Amino acid sequence: MTDMLATSATATDDANSVARQTARAELNRLWSAGTAFLGTEYAILGGAMSWVSERTLVSAISNAGGFGVIACGAMTPELLEAEIVATQARTKKPFGVNLITMHPQLDELIQVCLRAGIGHIVLAGGIPPSAAIRGAKDGGAKVMAFAPALVLAKRLIRMGVDALVIEGAEAGGHVGPVSLTVLAQEILPHITTVPVFVAGGIARGDAIVGFLEQGAAGAQLGTRFAAATESIAHPRFKEAFLKANARDALTSVQLDPRFPVIPVRGLVNDGSQNFLTHQAETLRRFQAGEFSKEEAQLEIEHFWAGALRRAVIDGDVETGSVMAGQSVGMVKAVRPVEDIIGELVTQAVDALVHRSGQRREH
Ligand SMILES: Cc1cc2nc3c(=O)[nH]c(=O)nc-3n(C[C@H](O)[C@H](O)[C@H](O)COP(=O)(O)O)c2cc1C
Repeated sequence: MTDMLATSATATDDANSVARQTARAELNRLWSAGTAFLGTEYAILGGAMSWVSERTLVSAISNAGGFGVIACGAMTPELLEAEIVATQARTKKPFGVNLITMHPQLDELIQVCLRAGIGHIVLAGGIPPSAAIRGAKDGGAKVMAFAPALVLAKRLIRMGVDALVIEGAEAGGHVGPVSLTVLAQEILPHITTVPVFVAGGIARGDAIVGFLEQGAAGAQLGTRFAAATESIAHPRFKEAFLKANARDALTSVQLDPRFPVIPVRGLVNDGSQNFLTHQAETLRRFQAGEFSKEEAQLEIEHFWAGALRRAVIDGDVETGSVMAGQSVGMVKAVRPVEDIIGELVTQAVDALVHRSGQRREH
């Protein structure tokens, strides 16, 4: 009897192991366009995060089989070059560089990337200039850009972009108004010529599988990696992530339509409250004739200057900008990048095993 039980347990183990291997092969097939494009084991990008995505985190993500992306932010060409060299010293795996299109030295930054042999340049912060796309591609790099709507996705492809990221409003940082659920339905069925990566609100591997089955080539995550062990973010920044729920990660509020505020998603704190008071006071001074319209707009825009650095580097989570996506509610512990990626892959495989089991039952 004991022998029979042992034999049947072994048979179940074998069947489970075959099911997992099959599911793993299926995952590899589902995200093959993404892994081929990135040159990675997994089609998981660590979304560039200003002040956070530097040499340590980027190399950890790439070394763990994902694709790290340096956030150039406002860096000078010299600083970016140093960051790339330091990252290359930490990983032999591919990684990318995210450049903000409004940067006054965009062309020089692209040349820095090309000279350093960066294979993938991500152009963020609006529709990139054609010359930037051409310059990067002529120098041998692949170009990725963000598509906030289907018409813009098609335009970017016509402009020569090699892959797209669609980032839903659930994401941390600067966001558009549309959720990933809607962007995915609007864009994924219609874009088949370039890989499309999904971003915003993703914290689990089963969710990644869902988007891959809809046609995505892979997923980009930011918030989960910001709280990783290797992230240089201040312990108080990570602690704020662990305590927060999804509903704490809100977009900045605009008080008056005459003075637009670019929506940024982050944890609500004294800073976000003070921003409302600051806008109200600026409006009052504009109405009293103390500020011109341009001065008032600048006054509002300057409120957050340096605030992300203050939160990430100095740990001022009370008045700094604690950018975080709604996925922050699923960040439960500070964990090494390898564990985070390993867990995402396990969850993805589990989901596929579960589905194939359900199919057999029907
Ligand atoms: C702290 C923080 C800073 C960010 N900075 C940038 C940035 O400089 N450039 C950019 O393209 N995206 C930036 N993002 C967006 C991420 O690259 C990524 O797309 C987003 O975090 C994905 O959504 P998730 O946070 O729900 O995973 C930032 C996000 C966070 C949380």
